[in-house]
Amino acid sequence: MTPEFATDSETTRPLWLLWSGQDLPAEAKAGAWPDASGFTAKAGQICLLPSEDGGVRGALMGLGDRNSSGRDRFQLARAHALPKGDWHLANQPDGLTPDQLTLGWLLGQYRFTRYAGVAPQGPRLVCPQGVDMDRMLAIAAGEFLTRDLINTPASDLGPDKLEAAARALCNDLGGKIEVTTGTALLKNNFPLIHAVGRASATEPRLLDIRIGDTGPMLTIVGKGVCYDTGGLNLKPGASMGLMKKDMGGAATALGLLKMLVKTGAAANIRLRVLIPAVENSVAGNAFRPGDILASRKGLSVEVNNTDAEGRLVLADALTYGAEENPDLMISLATLTGAARVALGPDVPPFYCDDDATATALQSAAMQADDPLWRMPFWEPYEGLIEPGIADLDNAPSGGMAGSITAALFLKRFADGAGRYAHLDIYGWQPTAAPGRPKGGVGQGSRAILAALPAILS
Ligand code: BES
Ligand code: MN
Ligand code: ZN
Repeated sequence: MTPEFATDSETTRPLWLLWSGQDLPAEAKAGAWPDASGFTAKAGQICLLPSEDGGVRGALMGLGDRNSSGRDRFQLARAHALPKGDWHLANQPDGLTPDQLTLGWLLGQYRFTRYAGVAPQGPRLVCPQGVDMDRMLAIAAGEFLTRDLINTPASDLGPDKLEAAARALCNDLGGKIEVTTGTALLKNNFPLIHAVGRASATEPRLLDIRIGDTGPMLTIVGKGVCYDTGGLNLKPGASMGLMKKDMGGAATALGLLKMLVKTGAAANIRLRVLIPAVENSVAGNAFRPGDILASRKGLSVEVNNTDAEGRLVLADALTYGAEENPDLMISLATLTGAARVALGPDVPPFYCDDDATATALQSAAMQADDPLWRMPFWEPYEGLIEPGIADLDNAPSGGMAGSITAALFLKRFADGAGRYAHLDIYGWQPTAAPGRPKGGVGQGSRAILAALPAILS
């Protein structure tokens, strides 16, 4: 679905946004009605203002306690409970920017309707003054793409269909795409991508998208595990249930690509997106626990758990990306359960080998309402990923510092890039929140978009 504003309205109704305890603006001329009807400006509370002929002439919406507004991103997403028709913001509440409010409204439009239901014809917003309408639409459209891809189950989004989605996007954006599939992965030296994906009925592949040919180079690598059964180290049912989302990194990379190009942020840079697209499945030819695999980089890897497959496919993609020395390389991956244990579903940890880049990304993340939290590439833990009979261990026993050891593993394959950052994302909203219905969600894309001028020049 496509996000939209009201652009052709003849009449629009005013919507006032109020912190609790704030006086009603005189222009609302609401008299005793809000009080009498129990309106206290709780977050999301709506008070419709009747017109004399029994219609609705406007509305008040509560924003809740100003001091706890950090609890609630995308406030204006709740305005979708308004009656349908076109609305405009009648005031600008302090503490929230017009961009934040507008993005909240647009994100609140998202519905996943591929298999059931229809997107309701909800209320529409007139783009507030001073807000760059096309930019907001580009950001929301990128996010909707990410969500649609994550929400689509593996039955309709195997590695072949992920390729098709990337091709369609590439076409739309005017980029180039190259795809290496099946045994060609072996011939072209991507042994880890092949090993992880070869047991699937749908061949593994590496997608390589490029847009732009001058300027500093940004390479984004997204984990595209279209389904993660765990492989021979099969996941128990409860852990496997959500694993259609294990291509969340790839989905976020594609959504980000769309945002970067459609906002014009990609105009003077060279962008590359690499996606190893595989299914981690079970069959007679599946890779096994104990196998020692070669990697593109030449490092041998002992497989101590076939469920630590993400770092394997990313390793070859990162090596390939680093070979042309991009100024910055960023990986996005639903990589570890440990990241969720540490920070929960809302705040993905990120790792970065450059302090200035990390600081810029951290502050852009908070500004863009796309939180991230820095964790360390903790060198003293390097020993945990060195098994002895191979160069690297994909799944250190004990599982201590699971997100950090996964990040350290990836970093071994990223050198060659000027700077490297890795985001261990969740890609899933477990319970509905404003602007984020339960289901797939992009994480880190808006943060990277907002940070770009500071981190790539
Ligand atoms: N895709 C999972 C990680 C994951 C699980 C992300 C649940 C979000 C929610 C990944 O491939 C995986 O299985 N990781 C293992 C690694 C372990 C075997 C070293 C994990 O985190 O348990
Ligand atoms: Mn896994
Ligand atoms: Zn996985």
